[in-house]
Amino acid sequence: MKTRPDAPVIPTDRGKCPFDPPAAYARLRAEDPVSPITFQVAPKDPSGWLVTRHDLVRQILADDRFSHRNELLAHVVAPPFPMTEYAPQPSPPGSFAKMDAPEHSRYRKLLAGHFTVRRIQQHEPELTRIVDEALTGMAAQGSPADLVTSFAEVVSVRTVCALMGVSGELMAGVSEHFGALMRLTYTLEEFIHHIESMDALIRPVVRERMAEQDDDFFGRLAATGELTEEEMVNLAVLTLGGSLDTTPNMLALSAFALIEQPDQLAVLRARPELWEAGAVDELLRYLTISQLGSSRCALEDVEIGGRTIKAGQTVVLALPAANRDPEVFDDPDRLDVTRNPRKHLALGFGAHQCLGQHLARASLRIGLRELFERFPTLRLAVPADAVPLRDRAMHYGVDRLLVAWD
Ligand code: HEM
Repeated sequence: MKTRPDAPVIPTDRGKCPFDPPAAYARLRAEDPVSPITFQVAPKDPSGWLVTRHDLVRQILADDRFSHRNELLAHVVAPPFPMTEYAPQPSPPGSFAKMDAPEHSRYRKLLAGHFTVRRIQQHEPELTRIVDEALTGMAAQGSPADLVTSFAEVVSVRTVCALMGVSGELMAGVSEHFGALMRLTYTLEEFIHHIESMDALIRPVVRERMAEQDDDFFGRLAATGELTEEEMVNLAVLTLGGSLDTTPNMLALSAFALIEQPDQLAVLRARPELWEAGAVDELLRYLTISQLGSSRCALEDVEIGGRTIKAGQTVVLALPAANRDPEVFDDPDRLDVTRNPRKHLALGFGAHQCLGQHLARASLRIGLRELFERFPTLRLAVPADAVPLRDRAMHYGVDRLLVAWD
């Protein structure tokens, strides 16, 4: 493994508007859409590529000459991101997000039935109840309140608890360790501690549920007879992990964006049917919280956008840049809740496209609609430029969002 502690990687410095991606992306996308970068941590070759144009990002995500195997990927880390001592290992059994077919498809298929549109629709009454309870709690607590802890995190954690049939205490523990990992400020020892702690929390629950085989999330997975305890634990960590840092960040950042763009909020209030149409996807596009993008490793030499990606090189697919591509979206830097940005890549594309996407959409739709309905005078309790931003974490968002209402 080669490490380069000082190597420049991907742009992370944002401009004045907290909702815009780093300004450097616009120039790269127009002038150098497959641009060379150097990784800090790489299994073999620290030189790689940053892809910023929508068509090229989409093309790579759909091309099986590009692998998502963890052990092949160079790391998207930049100072102050740590982890320089870490050698990427193959993903453990069951943790399929960073595997290729056929292992990836086998695991994904076993889980997919729990996340279909129909299954998520069946959960909607429960989701609405969870949102209502969180808002009642926030109202009881009184103005001002931190929207992150009193609403976004509560809704996301309780929703995934309900779906998986696990207790809130378990999730609070898992959530704490997972949140620490996503902030990317740990040492190697802390990294190992968080992984082992999540395993220790989840393993007894999985063991118990495998024995009981009820008609619930774990029971149905166990009943397939295809999964070992190890695989079940890792599948559970992946599912929880997929939701615990994404939905809360999207909920809070979307609320921030809508408070700051009252014309768009007014449109949504006048035409609530837009929540069901494209508004949630437009927020996903506009905010694209996967700020470090997706990575893939070339399995053979591949020509992309006039460049040769050599076998063994890692490409970073800059989802925030692709989602602001003017070739695909008119006036891309504008939040426009009336558009339906069907081609956005905020939930990925191809074989690894977000497994929890229907749950994510439902949580955002119900959560945001109810939030602004229940608190018609919702506003920031601090100046917008004093809101602390997560611009160095895996997912973009806000650390705190103090809001007030009458
Ligand atoms: C707004 C919320 C969310 C966003 C922005 C988001 C974003 C993404 C993206 C971009 C990917 C693809 C990564 C890649 O190809 O490199 C992905 C994959 C994934 N997501 Fe989400 N996600 C969200 C919510 C969720 C939820 C709620 C769950 C689970 C309950 C979830 C579970 C997963 C899993 C398991 C994968 C891996 C799929 C695979 O490799 O086949 N996500 N997500």
